[in-house]
Amino acid sequence: MAVAILKGTIVSAPALGKLDVAENGYLIAEDGRITGVFPVLPEQYAGAPVEDFGDALILQSFADLHLHAPQYPMLGMGMDLPLLDWLNAYAFPTEARFADPDYAREIYQGLARELVENGTTRVCMFSSLHRQATLILMEELEKAGVTGYVGKVNMDRNALPGVLEETTEDSMGETLRWLEECQDLRHIKPMLTPRFTPSCTDGLMAFLGRLAAERGLPVQSHLSENRAEMDWVRELHPDCRQYWETYAKYGMWNDRTVMAHCVWSDQRERQAMRDAGVTMVHCPDSNQNLCSGVAPVRAMLNEGGKVALGSDIAGGDHLCMFDVTAAALRASKARRVLDNWETDFLTVPEAWFLATSSGAAFFGEQPGFAPGNPLHAIVLDDSRLPQPHPLTPAERLERCVYLRQKDAVRAVWSAGRKVFSAE
Ligand code: GUN
Ligand code: FE
Repeated sequence: MAVAILKGTIVSAPALGKLDVAENGYLIAEDGRITGVFPVLPEQYAGAPVEDFGDALILQSFADLHLHAPQYPMLGMGMDLPLLDWLNAYAFPTEARFADPDYAREIYQGLARELVENGTTRVCMFSSLHRQATLILMEELEKAGVTGYVGKVNMDRNALPGVLEETTEDSMGETLRWLEECQDLRHIKPMLTPRFTPSCTDGLMAFLGRLAAERGLPVQSHLSENRAEMDWVRELHPDCRQYWETYAKYGMWNDRTVMAHCVWSDQRERQAMRDAGVTMVHCPDSNQNLCSGVAPVRAMLNEGGKVALGSDIAGGDHLCMFDVTAAALRASKARRVLDNWETDFLTVPEAWFLATSSGAAFFGEQPGFAPGNPLHAIVLDDSRLPQPHPLTPAERLERCVYLRQKDAVRAVWSAGRKVFSAE
């Protein structure tokens, strides 16, 4: 049996707002699955090799539940337009380049590496509409050690004629072919990905809903991100009272559904997500960059909804989920102001839970470093940051969310495998 024993200051998020801390503790996994966090090395492991990281923090690695791989080349650029104009002016032309497999390979290798180096080991990710580039993306993620879901994007209307387009027939046929071709991957699995309601004809939506049901596939899309988008959806589906019903009516509304943004989801729409077990993905950087709004995350949580975090690159400008966590904290404070100081902002342990345990739940994990979970962990060095006074592990975690020394991430485990080491 393969045993991994990591020693350090272990901090994890076992529940919303709670941190478990084990100073000089041992995080142990057997055959890639966590057996526990222990204050002293249990007898049965005496003599087994220990990776001793000294005083470094050992944290859960991140789950990024919403990002667009083919927008990686435009990271940090073109944020001067609202969503629908931004898609046509920047996102669609950038994605069109992924018709070229060589280009896709080069870009996706870099993206996969950067994800792992930043401690993101589980993803729900959009590719472009290109089948071949989507397979390349999945291969590169698998090679780098990332786990999770990737979707070939479906978009058979309102795209860019002559630049980025697919017919309904192509969209269906290429999706089926892609599902055949990606079967052998172990850690990266397919997820059906209607881009958003304005991008998909009713026929395509019905096809994807049937396919999801027949094959038990998860679904990801966008929901209530921007007011103009919502007006458009209302025109396209006058029979639907709210945006979410355009997904629900085609059978894409259940506990394997992930909806990005939900900035403008009101109480009724949020309840529809809670009732169905849909995961809402809060993407604070993107929401601010594209002037979409400030999502009511506190209300989502108070109502018992499932909420995770997403970088949403390249609407979001940070791939690193430490930065996304800090952005979620700031957004929650902006929301508090918008709500006349009537809602609470997120605490650091709450935001940390959303970035780690909450996203990991979509992949079937229990919160924190629970026994039985696959080992997903980051070793974080903060020894070269100023030490104004002796800091608690919780204070160190808070500072690392906002501020990190260069090369702070020393090692990363994903599904039991060591996938990055700074040594
Ligand atoms: N809605 C439809 N497509 C996109 C996209 O690429 N990014 C964001 N943020 N929203 C979208
Ligand atoms: Fe998005």
